Amino acid sequence: MSDPEPRSTTDADLIEPYGGRLVDRVIDSDAAERLLADAAAAPEVVLRPRLASDLYLLAVGALSPLEGFMDEEMYESVLEEMALPSGLPWSIPVVLSVRDGEADGVEPGAMVALRSHEGEVLAALEVTDVFRRDMERERLAVYGTADRAHPGVAALEGLGDVCIAGPIHYLGPTYAVEGVAAEEILTPAQTRARFSKLGWKSAVAFQTRNPIHRAHEYLQKCALEIVDGLLVHPVVGVLLSALPLSMRYAGPMEAVFHAIIRRNYGCTHMIVGRDHAGVGDYYGTYDAQLVFDRIDQEVLGIQPLKFEHAFWCDVTGQMATEKTSPAEIQQRLFLSGTRLREMLSRGERPPAEFTRPEVAEILLRAYARS
Ligand code: ADX
Repeated sequence: MSDPEPRSTTDADLIEPYGGRLVDRVIDSDAAERLLADAAAAPEVVLRPRLASDLYLLAVGALSPLEGFMDEEMYESVLEEMALPSGLPWSIPVVLSVRDGEADGVEPGAMVALRSHEGEVLAALEVTDVFRRDMERERLAVYGTADRAHPGVAALEGLGDVCIAGPIHYLGPTYAVEGVAAEEILTPAQTRARFSKLGWKSAVAFQTRNPIHRAHEYLQKCALEIVDGLLVHPVVGVLLSALPLSMRYAGPMEAVFHAIIRRNYGCTHMIVGRDHAGVGDYYGTYDAQLVFDRIDQEVLGIQPLKFEHAFWCDVTGQMATEKTSPAEIQQRLFLSGTRLREMLSRGERPPAEFTRPEVAEILLRAYARS
């Protein structure tokens, strides 16, 4: 006898968006026409790709309850309290900053046209505040280091510090990512609708920026034993990603940021393994798990599923962790996305204990094309 079809759930069965309501800043076509007419006369800001991605995430509610770029009160609160002024935990500022001279004529009450690099109007911003961000403090609060070799810190270099804050009005729901079909980039409203249709009440998000390997598979399968469904939500940098979010490599702070975003997409859980969103030796192996102890779990709502460092165990012939493997250290093969990327870039076939041969085949073909 086959299992009965899963019953559809309703929106009410899903986890509430962060802050209680899914933000939607995408305007209809009439409003878009008016906005485009007004934009011609408005002061304009050209967005770098990283900011265009933040803008998209704000528009579709991935960053709910934010309705636009943060003002000074929010910014200060995030740096000092790791929370929004309302008390909701929040780990990474989402600000629009420009250099001196690029925001001339921009003051509270004004409307600013936000353009892409190609000159297309993407959105309008109702200015509520103009202030300066404190890069030095931000580096330490978010990245835990001022080292310019850290990729997240490096990405702040050369940005202006004049922040333009306020709610946005976005012209289109689509976001183009090279190499990714538009229908593979689902909005939070769309993932939520799919979850309901599939009858899922709980779903675990899997964040990655790497080619898939056995440790990923192991974590996903373990997590699936606990919840109804799995949302594979890769961030591979803006250009390759199905979630157009730019990696900050902020380790623990980014893990919290990732969790908030996944809650908005309807997930109740998120996998956090070893050195989540980390880079180099900036963070301890489990810092991105420990950070959740500093946050009220009830308020955060989405639960981190914490996994130990997983490896291939020669003794049992399967993936395992310290908890489940009797193997000595030399009988353990530790995997890392970085090593896998390096092998694939050189056209080398990763060992079967590292990535399944059929998966390696697909990855090798993809790397040869890129
Ligand atoms: S990143 O987004 O965290 O930078 P990565 O691909 O390295 O991407 O990891 C994706 C997720 O899998 C993260 O939660 C990470 O902690 C976890 N992870 C990756 N490899 C392992 C491993 N060998 N053991 C345990 N967790 C892992």
